[in-house]
Amino acid sequence: MKRACVIGWPVAHSRSPVIHRYWLKLYGLDGAYEMEAVRPEEIEGFLKWLGKRGYAGANVTLPHKEAALAAADRPDDAATTIGAANTLWLDDKGLLHASNTDAYGFMTHLAAEAPEWNKGKRPVVVLGAGGAARAILHGLIQAGATKILLVNRTEGRAKALAEGFGTKVSVIPWVARNRALSGCGLLVNATSLSMTGKPVLDVDLSALPADAIVADIVYSPLETPLLAAAKARGNRTVDGLGMLLHQAVPGFERWFGVRPDVTPELRAHVVAHLEV
Ligand code: ATR
Repeated sequence: MKRACVIGWPVAHSRSPVIHRYWLKLYGLDGAYEMEAVRPEEIEGFLKWLGKRGYAGANVTLPHKEAALAAADRPDDAATTIGAANTLWLDDKGLLHASNTDAYGFMTHLAAEAPEWNKGKRPVVVLGAGGAARAILHGLIQAGATKILLVNRTEGRAKALAEGFGTKVSVIPWVARNRALSGCGLLVNATSLSMTGKPVLDVDLSALPADAIVADIVYSPLETPLLAAAKARGNRTVDGLGMLLHQAVPGFERWFGVRPDVTPELRAHVVAHLEV
């Protein structure tokens, strides 16, 4: 039997088991997907003995994504550029491979829901400068974005992030975020704002072109106030759940040997588990 797990601290909130267990059942595979709560001081040792613990690989969530990259023998380009890994697998020689599939997940969902997101090569506005923003910048640039306006409450963090991506990324002060929307083709919220229990993201969409797309990485609630406001004025919206579902695909394929599909049925199954 093949086994994989999600490693975090805490880990109980992770929706990854819901996704992977759904696929294991759907494809009739002899596999298991567990949850591993691992303290920060124990992560290095845990990853060193991942194979000995019977795992073919793992997903890694906060706060261990940087440690997962550091532990890898073979990090791929996405993990190296993003500086963090969320997907690990062991090869037949016992070498630990690492990837970051957040950029893949975000871009795959965006391309499916709004394939015209880069039509006219208008600027993209990204809010946030944490790990999620880093992954999204990487994905957008790989997919051909030529001008990204990065806006973050702490401007120094945005500047540090922008430095790694060259001239395609410019930093705009947080107070100027509403004006920055004028002429943009895509707005992405890559902050955790408006997530259940967090403050609401305060953005005024008045300057946003009517045909711009609005994407949010927050999936709980599924319709964030940002997406609701965008919908109300007729903008196309892309929710955060698709990113979560698509980022799970490459790991499942590595561990269990089947490339799984992201379907409306999977979405409905995960939505039902968001509400409990
Ligand atoms: P992650 O790695 O998951 O992206 P993070 O590193 O904690 O998480 O980043 C959270 C993002 O939400 C940051 O961009 C943060 O802004 P700061 O860099 O200024 O902290 C942003 N954020 C969190 N709370 C915020 C608030 N009340 N107002 C504006 N931005 C906020």
